[in-house]
Amino acid sequence: MPTYGERDLAFARGKGCYLYTTSGKKYLDFAGGIAVNSLGHCHPQLVKILNKQSKILWHTSNLYKNNNQELFAKELCNKTFADRVFFTNSGAEAIECGLKVIKSYWNLKNKNKKTIITFKGAFHGRTFAALSAQKNKKYSEGFTPLLSGFKNITFNDEKVLLKNITKETAAIMIEPIQGEGGIRPASLKFLKYIKKICIKHDILLFLDEVQSGFGRSGKLYAHEWAKIKPDILATAKGIGSGFPLGACLATSKASFGMTRGKHGSTYGGNPLAVAIGREVLKIISNKKFLTDVDVISRYLWKNLKQLQSNYDEILDVRGAGLLLGIKTKQNNVMIANKLKKNKLLTVPAGDNIIRLAPPLTINKIHVDQAIKILNQTFKTLL
Ligand SMILES: Cc1ncc(COP(=O)(O)O)c(C=O)c1O
Repeated sequence: MPTYGERDLAFARGKGCYLYTTSGKKYLDFAGGIAVNSLGHCHPQLVKILNKQSKILWHTSNLYKNNNQELFAKELCNKTFADRVFFTNSGAEAIECGLKVIKSYWNLKNKNKKTIITFKGAFHGRTFAALSAQKNKKYSEGFTPLLSGFKNITFNDEKVLLKNITKETAAIMIEPIQGEGGIRPASLKFLKYIKKICIKHDILLFLDEVQSGFGRSGKLYAHEWAKIKPDILATAKGIGSGFPLGACLATSKASFGMTRGKHGSTYGGNPLAVAIGREVLKIISNKKFLTDVDVISRYLWKNLKQLQSNYDEILDVRGAGLLLGIKTKQNNVMIANKLKKNKLLTVPAGDNIIRLAPPLTINKIHVDQAIKILNQTFKTLL
């Protein structure tokens, strides 16, 4: 189905932060497979693990005990707020699972809490529940009727949030940094306020860290900057560094309705994905690795701000960690195409943003190279 439109570029291979076409042309990858290739392309440790696992076991189904899956779940719990994990193959599936956690929790408690608050500009995926949650016509046009039970309100606004809290509010669902919507971070103050509201009004907090998680912000999960803890969290993208993998994390309290038979997945948490995920977690959750992400992201930020001061064309630079956005006057897709011609890959996002989501392994050389190409490109736009 032609859902992706025309695609003019094909890559034959990737190494580290670079992609190479069949004819050998080299591109600096600051798109990272839309914030997916957290450790770059073909990271040697991941190649080794995948090779090793591919010779041992690929698939058994979730009818059988899977020791590595259980170990991975424990490792994730040890490093986060969570007590329970459900493995998926993608972000939208992790979102679906989280929504089922919310529904099952209030059903079991026999409380009439049926509204989930979501935010304008949010993106939670392409399934019906995700389309219903984000209420964005760009994605849901032609797919009505959607599911009821979601209230979509202004982002980063404490007053509006408070006004919309009722006895029926079951959960608040938010991306700590909106990705597709245009790289808009929730303020730390807003995240803290949401947590306070959740405690006060007995509401579950569901964080979508599919894009902002797994080291991208300089912490394992972006909400850690606000020093808050969710009840449920969806994670994907960076967790597999390119291998399809996702997970829904939850406290045992929030997930007490997810009992035998309540959910399932044929492939979720399969041996190949789990082997990769464990290795990615080991590398990314290392303190030194996260400090390096923080340091390099600040260097990129400083350079982007400098770029902004040189070009009226740049209206804003925003984001956090290595999930950054450049808001331009002229069309972002047109500019991203020009950057692509100059061998820098970026991804357009909502609100006319050019999104940068490079591998977390970039160094100063990569940043300098990206800034040079951005400079060259913005010069031609004058
Ligand atoms: C914040 C967020 N949530 C959910 C999703 C859906 O993930 P997937 O495309 O893996 O289903 C995305 C994908 O871009 C995302 O950015």
